[in-house]
Amino acid sequence: MPTVIVVGAQWGDEGKGKLVDVLTEKADIVARYQGGHNAGHTVVINNEKYVLHLIPSGILHKNTVCIIGNGVVVEPAALIEEIRGLQKRGIKVGKNLLISKNAHLIMPYHIALDSAGEKMRGKKCIGTTGRGIGPTYVDKMARTGIRVGDLLHPDFFMEKIRTNLKQVNFLMKNLYGSRAFSAGKIYDEYLGYANVLKNHIADTDVLIDDAVSLKKNLLLEGAQGTLLDIDHGTYPYVTSSSSTAGGACTGLGIGPTKISRVLGVVKAYTTRVGSGPFPTELSDATGEEIRRKGSEFGATTGRPRRCGWLDTVILRHAVMINGLTGIALTKLDILDGLETIKICTAYKYKGKIYSHFLKELEAFEVCTPVYEEMKGWKKSTLGIKEFRKLPKEAQVYIRRIEELVGVKADIISTGRKRDELITIREQF
Ligand code: GDP
Ligand code: IMO
Ligand code: MG
Repeated sequence: MPTVIVVGAQWGDEGKGKLVDVLTEKADIVARYQGGHNAGHTVVINNEKYVLHLIPSGILHKNTVCIIGNGVVVEPAALIEEIRGLQKRGIKVGKNLLISKNAHLIMPYHIALDSAGEKMRGKKCIGTTGRGIGPTYVDKMARTGIRVGDLLHPDFFMEKIRTNLKQVNFLMKNLYGSRAFSAGKIYDEYLGYANVLKNHIADTDVLIDDAVSLKKNLLLEGAQGTLLDIDHGTYPYVTSSSSTAGGACTGLGIGPTKISRVLGVVKAYTTRVGSGPFPTELSDATGEEIRRKGSEFGATTGRPRRCGWLDTVILRHAVMINGLTGIALTKLDILDGLETIKICTAYKYKGKIYSHFLKELEAFEVCTPVYEEMKGWKKSTLGIKEFRKLPKEAQVYIRRIEELVGVKADIISTGRKRDELITIREQF
């Protein structure tokens, strides 16, 4: 009966994929609400690793309907490759995967504009995933975007490509010095994709509404994280969508009164990929050790993730922006064996202490973290399934996080696998 949003509380890669996979056990529908194939969600089942980019992480459960919502941007070739990759591994992807007609298409020129834009920004580049995400959302907001549903109306689709290419090709030639795109070539390529995808295209908002009326269990999956949100993140070092909980309503067409819970996924330390400020970043051996132990390399681009201590200032921001009802604390096991663990409780900026998130980039870039030091634990927490079995120091660490953040830990993840989990409060 409940509708639960799963949202990243930091800069992405918190372990949302694992959580969504585990919670799908009790979900009838899993729906992705924003982002595109910039996301990389890893799910480990037994010893098999699956990395999902566009398809909801619920797809590995065969009786669940998975939806790609209107708020998502879809690169059809990447989607088809992902579908085929899963099918090859014996995962059912047919009528159980539905794509909103209103989701916007990533076109070849969006990818070219993404990399050209990054080149132009030079040292101030965002460090995007190069997937064309930003330019696609630009077109959506400029009302020049092309949507998945347009693939079903070839003449209309061609007209839109022609209109858009007038501006795109002007920029390509005159600003970026690159080659022009051919409308005919894009048309042929995309109609080929339409042929493969047509049976998946649906009015997903209506489906979701029906499921809510029938009191089904719905899981709404966010990509990226709170600090990468276009409005509430570390702008301009963010992604171009609404990755926070509000994005679930607009990105799927579900009213806020239908949401029961918002679970914030929090890594037991902090990571970030790409450019932008990161107050608790560790550029020393401890940061290196966390990266190595936590295998902190991007699931989409393979880039090393920047690592640092847990920052409860950004977590309080995430609690506020998303209205978190609980947190799922992941990768606790990666902190095993550390002598001491630090938690950032506030920032120092120009001699003053701030316990809230600093919105001005100039301040956030230069502030220094105020730390509380905690005793680490020497025992392994890997695979522990009961809270009371955790080392005392780990219990103290979790309780202190709850105090500082003001929200309880509903779930604690102690490993990559499905069953390496402590459930304190069920979501469904
Ligand atoms: P997402 O983008 O939020 O889905 O996260 P990613 O999949 O990009 O990155 C999280 C990584 O941590 C993945 O490789 C997961 O398999 C792994 N992971 C998730 N939870 C845990 C955990 O509790 N312990 C350990 N050791 N690994 C975890
Ligand atoms: P998941 O869902 C971490 C980052 C990029 C870059 C910025 C903008 O796996 O948590 P974009 O290509 O979106 O325009 O890049 O956002 N980024 C992510 N970082 N996890 C992600 O997704 C990310 N998706 C985008 O590295 O800094
Ligand atoms: Mg990821």
